[in-house]
Amino acid sequence: MNLKRYHFPVMLTEVVENLGVTPGGRYIDCTLGEGGHSEAILEFSQPGGQLLGIDADHEAILVSKRRLEAYKDCSYLVNSYFSNISEIAHELKFVPVHGVLLDLGLSSLQLDFENRGFSFSEEEMLDMRFGLENDLTAIEIVNKFSEKKLSDLIFDLSQDPNSRIIAKAICANRPLNTSKELADLINSIKLKVRRKHHPATLTFQALRMAVNNEVNELNKVLSDAFSLLGIGGKLAVISYHSTEDKIVKNFINNGLSNCECPPLNFECNCNVSPYLKLINRKPLVPTIEEINQNPRSRSAKLRVIERIR
Ligand SMILES: C[S@@+](CC[C@H](N)C(=O)[O-])C[C@H]1O[C@@H](n2cnc3c(N)ncnc32)[C@H](O)[C@@H]1O
Repeated sequence: MNLKRYHFPVMLTEVVENLGVTPGGRYIDCTLGEGGHSEAILEFSQPGGQLLGIDADHEAILVSKRRLEAYKDCSYLVNSYFSNISEIAHELKFVPVHGVLLDLGLSSLQLDFENRGFSFSEEEMLDMRFGLENDLTAIEIVNKFSEKKLSDLIFDLSQDPNSRIIAKAICANRPLNTSKELADLINSIKLKVRRKHHPATLTFQALRMAVNNEVNELNKVLSDAFSLLGIGGKLAVISYHSTEDKIVKNFINNGLSNCECPPLNFECNCNVSPYLKLINRKPLVPTIEEINQNPRSRSAKLRVIERIR
């Protein structure tokens, strides 16, 4: 594959600083992508630093392997879904760790080069799988799900207020085989609510999330990654839309309160204390300069927490 340029790693400085990357540290990048964050983590953790990088997409592993060649003696790159983080880390005896990073969603490689069905403008088969061993593809959802199931899926995973109209149009125009056919169809419908971005954005997001089981993946990786941290270790998550961010916020809020009193208790008397603390009270967002240089970063939110017990 001939890449014109690598994916811009989003909020790179903020990630390295807030993860507290230090020489000799051991880190896991659960979303290796094109290795941009991993490269910086490896650079700032030398001498002695180590990195375990995971990605469901085998192309991401190939590209990162080349990019991280200089660090081949202190990095392990594994082609797998990140919900397997616990098994992978224990098998490699890569525990405990000083930091874990999750940079959710898609890379530029997948959007621009991989022909995976993510593009609005190219005739790509509606696949949308990150890992090709997965059975379910977007083509199956779009062409086989009932109108009600399709409409619920789009609404649940993207809160698109147009979900019913879109599901109806999809069912009336089957079969739809390519990403461009689907994007053009949605673009041609008179929608209730129009937003700034392409009208198919939320439908594509929902389909991608369903195909890659993203809600379950994220719920599982958050708790498994947290358990791999040593005390003082940090977990950094970059999310790109409200469905992802809500899951991250819920996980953090549980760890901040962690009260085990029965719901009807007037006062807390369980003495169970929080097991994490926030590194930043509010999520960090990209600077205007970064958004100008890389518009794909515009919706990013970085939340970082520290394990305290
Ligand atoms: C935004 S990109 C990461 C870019 C990377 N930080 C960089 O600097 O190049 C997200 C990556 O996560 C991967 N990914 C998404 N969900 C995954 C999952 N459940 N398990 C493993 N990899 C996943 C995608 O294949 C994609 O390569």
